[in-house]
Amino acid sequence: MAVPVILDCDPGHDDAFAIWLAAGHPDLDLRGITTVGGNGQLAQTTHNARVICTVAGIKDVPIAAGADSPLIRTLQTAWDIHGASALDGPVLPEPEVELDPRGAVAMLRELLDESAEPLVLIATGPLTNVALLLRLHPEIQPKIREIAWMGGSTGRGNVTPYAEFNCWVDPEAAAVVLASGLRFSMVGLNVTHQALVTEEVRDRLAAIGNATSAFAVDLIDFFRAAYQVSEGMAAPPLHDPVAVALVAASSIVPTAYTRLDIELHGTETLGATSVDLHNKLGRPANAHVAMALDAPRFWDMVEAAIRRMR
Ligand code: BDR
Ligand code: CA
Repeated sequence: MAVPVILDCDPGHDDAFAIWLAAGHPDLDLRGITTVGGNGQLAQTTHNARVICTVAGIKDVPIAAGADSPLIRTLQTAWDIHGASALDGPVLPEPEVELDPRGAVAMLRELLDESAEPLVLIATGPLTNVALLLRLHPEIQPKIREIAWMGGSTGRGNVTPYAEFNCWVDPEAAAVVLASGLRFSMVGLNVTHQALVTEEVRDRLAAIGNATSAFAVDLIDFFRAAYQVSEGMAAPPLHDPVAVALVAASSIVPTAYTRLDIELHGTETLGATSVDLHNKLGRPANAHVAMALDAPRFWDMVEAAIRRMR
């Protein structure tokens, strides 16, 4: 039976692929999409989620807007990577899918409550919405099977030397979610930097030939240029769908059960993820941290999902 999931995201180029993979993988049952301020302001990420679903013909998945700013900090966006719209590159059509009026936290609570079996929350942006859900509705925890998050890193960061963007934007939210005791999987830069959109991958996706693939290629071309300027990388890493792949087929993204802590006070390391792989601190393990990626199977999965789109 397909795994029921909800995707919390901040589209964002790579978030688009996470949406398509979550909607298009036969072993996943995408029940809802919630948006958060992150790569762009909340109004932009919400608009973009509706655009991404419109392009792909995803019409039966409710989309609700969540937090417009982190728990206690001012929102910092990633316009240098994602452009002024947070989804620069393709011409963005007018969305044909409505916004759910409930708002993200209320919709998350209701979707969880009404589900017969526990759901997996996949988060590909700052964890603000998830932290608010857990704080406002702690009674819902038994309905959450796992939280699978793209964020953090076992090593270096991408927004500061040691902090990854999604964690750095709202580190307090990440700490709240981690402290909940729910099963928590972290898919960080150490693995997502293996999901590189090479020329060969780009050509494969272009060859699909549907409307989603054409849109995807325009996204990739903008993303590649942005990564070349900002990170000096020849091929851009498609971070977010790797967290979806972990839920769809865990053997593609092997994990280590280890100790994870979020840096909330460092002057140079705010938002860093401290992953104690060799148990130096002697603390109990609390997270399943992604350690590798089977890139060929990952790209097969992404290609197959986009083929199922419009
Ligand atoms: C993460 O930050 C965002 O820019 C991407 O969408 C991804 O979720 C990578 O650090
Ligand atoms: Ca994202």
